[in-house]
Amino acid sequence: HAIPWDPIAAAKGDYRHFMQKEIDEQPRALMDVLRGRIDQEHGRIELTDIRLSDADLRRVRRIYAVACGTAWHAGLVAKFLIEQLARVRVEVDYASEFRYRNPILQSDDERDALLLAITQSGETVDTLAAMEEARNQGVSSVAIVNAIGSQAARLADGGPIYLHAGPEIGVASTKAFTSMLVAAYLFALRLAQARGTLTPAQIREHIQALIELPGKAAQTIEQTTPLCIKLAERYHKASNALFLGRQINYPIALEGALKLKEISYIHAEGYPAGEMKHGPIALIDEQMPVICIAPRDHIYEKMVSNIEQVRARHGQVIAIGHLGDELLAEKAHHLIGVPATLPLLQPVLNVIPLQIFAYHVAVLRGCDADQPRNLAKSVTVE
Ligand code: AGP
Repeated sequence: HAIPWDPIAAAKGDYRHFMQKEIDEQPRALMDVLRGRIDQEHGRIELTDIRLSDADLRRVRRIYAVACGTAWHAGLVAKFLIEQLARVRVEVDYASEFRYRNPILQSDDERDALLLAITQSGETVDTLAAMEEARNQGVSSVAIVNAIGSQAARLADGGPIYLHAGPEIGVASTKAFTSMLVAAYLFALRLAQARGTLTPAQIREHIQALIELPGKAAQTIEQTTPLCIKLAERYHKASNALFLGRQINYPIALEGALKLKEISYIHAEGYPAGEMKHGPIALIDEQMPVICIAPRDHIYEKMVSNIEQVRARHGQVIAIGHLGDELLAEKAHHLIGVPATLPLLQPVLNVIPLQIFAYHVAVLRGCDADQPRNLAKSVTVE
């Protein structure tokens, strides 16, 4: 008799779902994406995966980030990172749109564009087609990718930047997403280093924040889980949810909404908070949870006034902000406090409670968090 043994089930260990296991693996995944890529002693980024020289990196004038789903949200964050740190213009596209719009990537006499493909599986058909389009136009690509030896990794002539997050089995992406953000951060710093847009002291400050990040992610998981479970108990019967954020946390609002809708089937929308008055505010009533991402950054006051507007329409405000933010605790119905880090790294910590909340809502609604209906882990056919 063969011994019945399922290696996949075995890998789940004591966890009920892979998604929960993968959420918990994030501190380790964040360590692994950083490993060997930082020279702390000399204050330098050693992203040797990239097959582009400093001269190549200095020549880049525009970057096209292409991806789908959660990876597209990582692309939206990458735009902020690359523009702020390396001062290179970034356009972000859904790969499925990019491939069919006959994009103008560069003129014949310029060789100054770069494609940045972002994909966990490395097998998403639209993302691969976008990479092929770039190749046909003579544009190099770099891929931020998890699956070793995948198509995207092979197509990336500028080099694959591997996440080293390990296999992600849950259909809802969690650890791959936070690892993508850190990989994009390293890439932005590497560009900045080649282009001289940051001083050595500034690079050291970013390196220090990156090194402290895995510990802060662990703290975030530990300290926010009990409240996320309580909030899931309270709001799992909602039929709609709104996620608001601004600037670099706007993609995190989109990601929080995607996580909730794909695994719990609650209709959820992410919006830039400043757009609320141009439509979505009409949806708000006393049944509606509104998740507002409001760290203390340059746009904090604006988020606080958005929260006041939601409260004035009797929406239920769940704020994601810095630990111990008393003003926010007073303004919101509930405050999920996360540790502070540099503003450009804050999205990595802010998204964690949104993953945990979505997971517990799905479980309470009796949904299969790992295998949501109608969805495949990677979309390899159109
Ligand atoms: C995220 O939770 C998804 N299920 C989905 O949006 C995914 O991110 C998308 O299909 C892209 O996949 P990839 O990263 O493997 O290219």
